[in-house]
Amino acid sequence: MKLLVCGGAGFIGSNFVRQRVTENGDEVVVLDKLTYAGRRENLEDLGDAVTLVHGAIEDPKKAGEAIGDGVDAIVNFAAETHVDRSISGPDAFVETNVRGSLTLLEAAREREVPRYVQISTDEVYGSIEEGSFTEESPIVPSSPYSASKAGGDLLVQSYFHTYGLETVIARGSNNYGPYQYPEKLIPLMMLSALHDDNLLVYGDGLNVRNWLFVEDFGRGISHILAHGAPGEVYNVGGPTESTNLDVVNGILEHTGKDESLIKFIEDRKGHDRRYSLGSEKVKALGWSAQVDFEEGLERTLSWYRDNPSWWQPIVDSADFREYYERHYKRPLNWRAAAR
Ligand code: NAD
Ligand code: TYD
Repeated sequence: MKLLVCGGAGFIGSNFVRQRVTENGDEVVVLDKLTYAGRRENLEDLGDAVTLVHGAIEDPKKAGEAIGDGVDAIVNFAAETHVDRSISGPDAFVETNVRGSLTLLEAAREREVPRYVQISTDEVYGSIEEGSFTEESPIVPSSPYSASKAGGDLLVQSYFHTYGLETVIARGSNNYGPYQYPEKLIPLMMLSALHDDNLLVYGDGLNVRNWLFVEDFGRGISHILAHGAPGEVYNVGGPTESTNLDVVNGILEHTGKDESLIKFIEDRKGHDRRYSLGSEKVKALGWSAQVDFEEGLERTLSWYRDNPSWWQPIVDSADFREYYERHYKRPLNWRAAAR
């Protein structure tokens, strides 16, 4: 298959591209703006199977260039993705997640691309105290991030209903695994622990997330790409629900560090209490999660331990330091060698 993967230099996108190239033998074009979260080195090992077009999805010329003579499908991961950054600066979220999705949809329609897969999130459903969201649950996003993702999803559905574009939407729960930018909970806590620094937990630490290993999400997306019915939405939820405190304690256990490193800090504004996804529809397509949380955490920690050459340049970058110091109101002091 020839795929255009937008946002393929980021965390989930690059893991998906690796899977498609190594397991399916696909030819992949990646269109990526290479923001702070998008990194060429995430695709370096894949050689000639991947062509990187450096550009933004909201740029119609670049979208057209990336589609070229045609592709069998577009899979769109490109997004601004960090909730905390959306709270301090929402504009880029609307530009990429809404305007960018519209530009891609229009390019797909004009060039008659046979299939369009939008990668979305459980966060569009908002928070749920009990039970799990299904694909029929109302869209009630609570952060600028999730609101902009919901806007993208609604445009995707409008292109199916209005123009008959063959769209499908895959809504994943919280992903973790190799190549995740260390602003997100799991890699940030792992690197903090490895540097004997505090693990900074928002509020009471009892918010619940539904953790999904990134390779399992990739396999779910491939099932949806191959077998999903046009116009439909598919939830892809992880096998485990955990409080943030349980996740952080698990990381301390695996790194052999002490609980005294945990520090509770001011809560996130509008912090969603719990996410939980029912995934019956994608399971009916033959998908199920293969990696449980213990194994996934172990594999992720090993990867971060073994790959300081990947994360050290990020940790040393002006973007990361400025973000960390502004957001956590404390200096980033990770000079000690990671153990
Ligand atoms: P990420 O932040 O690691 O990567 C995003 C990628 O998109 C980067 O390569 C970045 O350079 C690129 N990008 C950003 N703006 C762009 C633009 N305007 N044009 C082209 N490229 C652009 O994100 P991720 O965690 O890999 O998430 C990928 C997708 O999966 C997103 O759509 C996100 O909403 C969704 N998702 C993420 C999670 C999660 O837990 N991380 C869970 C469910 C769904
Ligand atoms: P995050 O990884 O940002 O994902 P999301 O907000 O999309 O679920 O955060 C996961 C959970 O961890 C969320 O409840 C917020 C919390 N959290 C902390 O307690 N401390 C942190 O430093 C970060 C980044 C997140």
